[in-house]
Amino acid sequence: MPVLSRVSFPPIQDGSYLQNITSLSNGLQLTLKTNVTFFVGENGSGKSTLLEGIAEQCGFSLRGGNRNHNLNTGYRFEGYESPLAQRLSLAWTPKRINEGFFMRAESFFNFASYIDEMIGEAKDGYKVLEAYGGRKLHEQSHGESFLSLFNNQFDNGIYILDEPEAALSPARILAFMSVIYDLEQSGRAQFIIATHSPMLLCYPGATIYQFDDNGVKETTYEDTEHFALTKSFLNNPEAYLRHLTNQ
Ligand SMILES: Nc1ncnc2c1ncn2[C@@H]1O[C@H](COP(=O)(O)OP(=O)(O)O)[C@@H](O)[C@H]1O
Ligand SMILES: [Mg+2]
Repeated sequence: MPVLSRVSFPPIQDGSYLQNITSLSNGLQLTLKTNVTFFVGENGSGKSTLLEGIAEQCGFSLRGGNRNHNLNTGYRFEGYESPLAQRLSLAWTPKRINEGFFMRAESFFNFASYIDEMIGEAKDGYKVLEAYGGRKLHEQSHGESFLSLFNNQFDNGIYILDEPEAALSPARILAFMSVIYDLEQSGRAQFIIATHSPMLLCYPGATIYQFDDNGVKETTYEDTEHFALTKSFLNNPEAYLRHLTNQ
C-alpha cells in the first residue's frame, strides 16, 4: 500500500478556470493503489493541475524541488499557488511523510541552476555536489543530469514528476524505469507521474489513470492512445505519412 493512498476533492462550482477542466470539475475520489501511478491524457486535460495541487499539499515547492527548497530559501515561485490545493484531501497510510520531490520538466533547468548556485555559495558545497553525483548539473547533459538526480537524490519519499521523459532518450527512459524499480521494490518510494511516454506507461504493475471528459478513470497501457498509436505508427510509418500528406 502506498503512503499517499487517496486524493479527493468535491465538485468545483466556483466559476474559476478549474470548473472548465472537465476531467476534474465533478470532483475526484482517486485511490493510489500501487507505488507507481501514471496520469495520462491529452494536453490541457488537467494532469499538471492535479499534480501541482498534490505537490503543494505535500509541502513541495511548485517550482520543483523538495521541502527544503520550499521552506529555507527564496526559491519558491513568488505569488504562485495551486488553486486546487486548498480543496484537496490527502489520505496517508499509515501516516504522513514529508520526504520527496516535485519536478516539472520545464523547470528542471532552473532547478539545476539553483543547485549549481548552492554548490558555488555554500561552505559545504562539496557535500551538495556529492549528493548530486559529483558534477555540477549544468556540466552534464540534460539527460545525464536528470538521471544523476534520480540516482543520487531519490530515496524514501513521494516523487511527483511532470513529464520526466522530456529530458530522456529512450535508453535513459529504460534506465529511469530501473531506478524506479529499485526504489519501489525496497518499499521506500512512491511515484506519481504525468507522462506521454508509451515506454514509461509499460512500467510493470503501475496504475494508470486516464484524464478526459469522463473524469479520471483507470486504464491499462495497451488501452492508452499513446501506446496504441505509437505502436501502430512505428509498425508502418510510411502509411501514416502517406495519409497525412495525401500521397
Ligand atoms: N492559471 C490558469 N488560468 C486559467 N486556465 C488555466 C491556468 N492553468 C491552467 N489552465 C487551463 O487548465 C487546463 C488544464 O491544464 P493542465 O493541468 O496544465 O493540463 P495538462 O497538464 O493535462 O496538459 C488547460 O486548459 C489550461 O489552459
Ligand atoms: Mg501538463
